[in-house]
Amino acid sequence: MDYNRLHSYEAYQAAYAASVQDLEGFWGAIAENFTWRQKWDKVLEWNFEEPKVAWFIGGKLNITENCIDRHLATRGNKLAMIWEANDPKERYMRWTYRELSEKVNQFANVLKNNGAKKGDRIAIYMPMIPELMVSVLACARIGAIHSVVFAGFSAHSLADRINDAACSMVLTSDGMNRGAKQIPVKRVVDEALEMCTSVEKVIVVDRVGWAVNMQEGRDVYLHEELPKASKVCEAEIMDAEDPLFILYTSGSTGKPKGVVHTCGGYMVYADYSFRNVFQYNESDVHWCTADVGWVTGHSYIVYGPLLAGATTLMFEGVPTYPDPGRFWQVCDKFGVTHFYTAPTAIRSLMQAGEDHVLSYSLDSLKVLGSVGEPINEEAWHWYHTHVGKNRCPLVDTWWQTETGGIMISTLAGITPMKPAHATLPLPGVQPVLLDGEGNEIEGNDVEGYLCIKAPWPSILRTTYGDHERCRINYFAAYKGYYFTGDGARRDEHGFYRIIGRVDDVINVSGHRFGTAEIENAINQNENVIESAVVGYPHDIKGQGIYAYIICKEMPENPIQVRAEIVETVVAEIGKIAKPDVIQFVSGLPKTRSGKIMRRILRKIAEGDVSNLGDTSTLLDPLIVDEIKDGAIALMA
Ligand code: PRX
Repeated sequence: MDYNRLHSYEAYQAAYAASVQDLEGFWGAIAENFTWRQKWDKVLEWNFEEPKVAWFIGGKLNITENCIDRHLATRGNKLAMIWEANDPKERYMRWTYRELSEKVNQFANVLKNNGAKKGDRIAIYMPMIPELMVSVLACARIGAIHSVVFAGFSAHSLADRINDAACSMVLTSDGMNRGAKQIPVKRVVDEALEMCTSVEKVIVVDRVGWAVNMQEGRDVYLHEELPKASKVCEAEIMDAEDPLFILYTSGSTGKPKGVVHTCGGYMVYADYSFRNVFQYNESDVHWCTADVGWVTGHSYIVYGPLLAGATTLMFEGVPTYPDPGRFWQVCDKFGVTHFYTAPTAIRSLMQAGEDHVLSYSLDSLKVLGSVGEPINEEAWHWYHTHVGKNRCPLVDTWWQTETGGIMISTLAGITPMKPAHATLPLPGVQPVLLDGEGNEIEGNDVEGYLCIKAPWPSILRTTYGDHERCRINYFAAYKGYYFTGDGARRDEHGFYRIIGRVDDVINVSGHRFGTAEIENAINQNENVIESAVVGYPHDIKGQGIYAYIICKEMPENPIQVRAEIVETVVAEIGKIAKPDVIQFVSGLPKTRSGKIMRRILRKIAEGDVSNLGDTSTLLDPLIVDEIKDGAIALMA
């Protein structure tokens, strides 16, 4: 049986059974479909204790030969990428696979000419411009490890990520367009680099035409370097287990960690999951609206589609500019067949009214996707009815930065879908639900901690520079399992529904933040003594950020102090981590051992103050009443 592309529910079931029976045989057969410079000696070695996972051991490859070179003979003139600018009046851009090949090779030579080599870490801090895709691929071409940092992060966040991986180069732009605004980018890099010592070169793309500061000897413009670089660059031969990229993500501890993915396994899984979940066909146009700064952009704007030889669309702008019909206008303009976005975008467009979506035909659409957070039933139905016209399958895809690719999802039009349910695992993925003691919960109609029992090719290999952290975060809670940090339900049909995080992580508009990470940022403000952050349900963002803050003195002008604290968070992390609600308190509910009772704070933030459970074990039970009254006053 060929399980490389599944065309029916029966084929899915057969593939699933085969993958459980013979994991190595299953993935070995899938991996045959790529260009390897040298075949692997062994498919898999693993244990979840250290943890140590290695796929396609001894295999040699370069992922860009699989994304680009191998398509040139048959798809050289096919569009690889369509780029739509922020401003609908600006010309869009289209590159064939041949053109993309030239761009990537030439950029790779620019990197080399500026001293980059295999194994170097290169930070990419760029808006959603075509050069971002080229940068990522150019790094992969020469075997440098890319670390893309979302261009909405602050200078501090960027500096932390550059320092953690000791990056030797930064690829960036002068500024960026975002809706009606133009935002500095290079200036943020300059500020970050004052806190870094490892960076020797900065390559700057001229996007908005600003005269930015260029430090002699360090900073160069891409357009001045390109003419010096050849359009042919031999691909570096990589070991299957060599790192391909680092991507920082937040966990329950204060500091974001660098999730490491490797060349061989990530390639196999990005391609396999892309083709099967979306049921991609040769003439389709795939649009994933994520930013390449997040894992969704890595796997389903860049690598997955290009590995499959697809046409991938990249959009510089925002869903509401110049109006909330922009997504649908772009779908009609380019005949988009596959549209993949986040529930938060759907909810905000839903709120803007149906007229915007009803003004466009959306005839070309075939498949819709959702990712990043639980999609509520109302948003699911709106998306399915008004965007998909009740004829497009909607895939709710559950996965994580650490998993590299989609793990639990409907296969479009092939396996069943159910609103607000991710449904079934992909073949090769073995989810289980565990109880608090780490026992597997059997049967259906049950709820528990979502864990994965066996490795898949794109499982994270480590957290950069700190393997013990990787073990503690993901493999220590339940011995022998990868722990996702999510709670889930398996319904009566065996379909999974993701409930949400069970650790101290909040998911704001599909972006992950550790509560400790936001607290650390808030505590940098000079007024603040201590803070506690929790998530609460938010109509558009999924979860909002609620901060309880103890100041040195109760602020006389709370509006001003709130604004100052928000400014601090923006400077420490970025605008995306702004607290939605700040409540000043004189104390926090703590146990006698000093642990903050977040359960109580979460309930108050949710507006549920009726039953706060047993508060008698608190050091100061009276504080709960003060916080409760304060919250009610704040919401009034
Ligand atoms: O809580 C889950 C939620 O997002 C987390 C992963 O976040 P991140 O690594 O930033 O990756 C986001 C894009 C893959 C998960 O632990 N999540 C992701 N997809 C879904 C989801 N929650 C519910 N349903 C989903 N489809």
